[in-house]
Parts: sequence; C-alpha cells; structure tokens
Amino acid sequence: MDTMELRKALERGRTASDWVESVARFFAEGDLTYGHGTDNPRDEAYWLIRAQQGWSEQAWTAPPDSGLIEGIIDLVRRRVAQRKPLAYLLGEAWFAGLRFRIDERVLVPRSPLAELIENRFSPWRRLQPGDRVLDVGTGSGCLAIAVAYHCDGVSVDATDISADALSVARRNVRDHGMEERVRLIRTDLFAGSTGLYRIIVANPPYVPSERLEELPPEYRHEPITALDGGRSGLDVVDRLLAGATNHLAPDGLLVVEVGEVEQAFRSRYPRLPATWLEFGRGGEGVFLLTHDELAGYLHA
Ligand SMILES: C[S@@+](CC[C@H](N)C(=O)[O-])C[C@H]1O[C@@H](n2cnc3c(N)ncnc32)[C@H](O)[C@@H]1O
Repeated sequence: MDTMELRKALERGRTASDWVESVARFFAEGDLTYGHGTDNPRDEAYWLIRAQQGWSEQAWTAPPDSGLIEGIIDLVRRRVAQRKPLAYLLGEAWFAGLRFRIDERVLVPRSPLAELIENRFSPWRRLQPGDRVLDVGTGSGCLAIAVAYHCDGVSVDATDISADALSVARRNVRDHGMEERVRLIRTDLFAGSTGLYRIIVANPPYVPSERLEELPPEYRHEPITALDGGRSGLDVVDRLLAGATNHLAPDGLLVVEVGEVEQAFRSRYPRLPATWLEFGRGGEGVFLLTHDELAGYLHA
C-alpha cells in the first residue's frame, strides 16, 4: 500500500476503527520496529488516530473527520521514512496511565516498572504518606511522577545527569501539578540527594556500548546517555549497587531495571540475593534488593 492508496482508504472509511485498520495495514507493510510504547502495528495505528483526534471520546465514536486525513498521512509517512518512534512524532507517551510530553532529549517511557508503581510497590512495600522515594536517571520524569500520582502523600526526588532531560521532566512535573511532590536534581546518580529513601528506583542506561550500533533505527533517535551502559552494559548499575545502601532507609528497597543484560548481571553477581520480578503485562529484567540484602552482600 502506498500513501495514495492509504488516502483513498481513509476517505472511504466510515468509522475511526476503519481508519485504524488502514493505518495498521500501511505500517505492517513498512519495515518498522516497535517497542516504544506499543509492540504491533495495530496498537501503533490506534495511538496515532486517537492522538490526532485529541483523545476525544466523541471524535472516536463519530464518523471520522476528513480534515484530519492530511495530518495522519504526514505522520504515517514520517514514521516509515524516518523510522522515528511515534512518541517523538506525536510529542507524547503514555506511562502508568498518565500522558507525558516527550521529545528526543529523553528516552521514550516504556519500563515494566509502570506495573509495579501502579500496584504501589505491593507486595514488597506498603508506602505511607511522608515516605520518600528516589528515582535515579529520571529522563522524562515518568517514574517519579507516576510514583507521586499513584502513592498518596509520598514525596519523590528525581535525579538525572542530563540538563536536557531535566527540562523535559520539569515540564511534565508542571503539567501533572506535582511541583510540591517531585523534586528534580541534576547530579551524577545520588550525589545531590539528601537523607534516606524508603525506595530507590532506577531504569539506568544498560545497552552495552558495542551493541548500540546494532540497534534498529528507532532506538538511534533516543539520547545516547539514556542507553549507553558502557562495555558490559553494567557501568551505571555497578555504581548504583555500590552506593545505594548509603541512601536507603534501614527497611529500604532498591528496584533496578537491567532489561536484556539480566544474564550478564547474574553472571557478574552470582551470589547477590536479588529477587527478579514477574510482570502480568510483560517485561523482564527487573530485580529488587532490600537494604539488608545489599549491605550483607557488600560486607561479606
Ligand atoms: C534508560 S533512561 C530512563 C529514563 C526514565 N527513568 C524512564 O524509565 O523512561 C536513563 C536515564 O538516566 C540518565 N543517566 C545516565 N547516566 C546517569 C548518571 N550517572 N546519573 C544520573 N542520571 C544518569 C540518562 O540521562 C537518562 O535520562
């Protein structure tokens, strides 16, 4: 299907679902990689159409507005030609049920940690109002803001080494009215944070440097500081483990995503008593450690 055929299909469409099917067919014939918020052409098409309709329920159920067709074709064309994640083309991403404004200064939110946050870290910890959480490497601010949103009365410190990322995070904190609950700090890991945290959560960069060039084009639109984990992929993770007990409360919990370098991590730390999480919605490579488990390991 080319864009002329797509235009005709959209003009013929009687419902927004017809439009989704047409765009999905176009995507399916393109050489695209998914994984930035969706994992298939249909969901990607649905997201595109709903976003173009301003997420209006009324627009979704009414006969489709032909005034949107040119904008849709432009987005579809750029998605295929530039291999850019749809999140960047739309300037939005959804995470833990919340909408975030996104651009190429930050990773596209997609961590399986969303599920854990929506479940308020149950059954691992029961957070109380006044508890403090630290998000290391906050990027768009998605984890930090989601924690503040889902966990009543909890305050969140969120660090990032990238000033650009923090500008995006700042806008998201403002959009979600979280200025009183989420504090953004520009620093290397935990350096600028103060006091102890009940939970430290991190989705650090963990792609081994030599694998960066092999990533599909979609990933190369993302900031290198968000992806590059050094030679083994574990440079930042190693430093997180070495420093976390200084910032965790005695009953604190460290939660870290290492994604596809899980095996490398297990080989490097065979005696670390990490608990690996399972997610109902998919995703893997996330472990947790209590303060005492980590301290015991480091001092053994
Ligand atoms: C994989 S992204 C995660 C972003 C966000 N937390 C998420 O889940 O979408 C990693 C983030 O860590 C930041 N980062 C990399 N090295 C860092 C360091 N040494 N200290 C603090 N942040 C760092 C990057 O700038 C990037 O925003």
